[in-house]
Amino acid sequence: MRKKIVAGNWKMNNDLPQTEILLLDLLSQTKTSSAEVMIAPAFTNLHFAFKKLKGSFIEVIAQNMHFASKGAYTGEISASMLKSVGIETVIIGHSERREYFCEDDKMLKQKVDAALENEMQVIFCFGEKLEDRKSDSHFKVVQHQIQQALFHLPESAWDSIILAYEPVWAIGTGETASPEQAQEIHAFIRNLVSEKYHSSLAEKVSILYGGSVKPTNAKEIFSKPDVDGGLIGGASLDATSFMQIVNSF
Ligand code: PGA
Repeated sequence: MRKKIVAGNWKMNNDLPQTEILLLDLLSQTKTSSAEVMIAPAFTNLHFAFKKLKGSFIEVIAQNMHFASKGAYTGEISASMLKSVGIETVIIGHSERREYFCEDDKMLKQKVDAALENEMQVIFCFGEKLEDRKSDSHFKVVQHQIQQALFHLPESAWDSIILAYEPVWAIGTGETASPEQAQEIHAFIRNLVSEKYHSSLAEKVSILYGGSVKPTNAKEIFSKPDVDGGLIGGASLDATSFMQIVNSF
């Protein structure tokens, strides 16, 4: 049985007082599903959120990290810094990092390695742009992203890898991939992992879908056999909506 996971990516939203309000709101909600729940606040609020949610049903995770362990990288945060404030899971390769911060496959591979060296769990994001889908190269694009950043890993490392398919054209646009489109890519990626490693390993990897998931469409998307949860942006900023999505499992 694969782990079901719903993770909220708060992106660059919520200062400290707003974080506290949303955390309290989340804690007042009831979780009825078996899904693991995660939220990724901004770096400045990670330690606060970690302390506030310790012992609750929600894990606090990071949105990003640097690949180096320390040094002259002004403005950056290392894996060990995250670990030192209680963070065990990090999102790597979000399309906004790829697009606005020029993170390429080579850098993402370094980040994955650094996270794993520090015994962190990784949510690795991948997904095609609109032009890729229009030119029918979406399978090739996602295959390349996964191969470049993850296929050097030994089998044992895959215990710490969660995948998140996020078609760029569906992020924050209100446009969602259809459940069938999501299922098609998830199955394709699972098969790729199976061919590279083996089927029992591929069967254990959770693959989340992200891109305009809402309370109204979550159930249908999560009902697909290879969709093991969601990475939620906009709808994770409202506790009730987020928990409705969590409880869609
Ligand atoms: P969205 O973002 O739910 O606002 O589309 C998803 C994401 O970027 O992880």
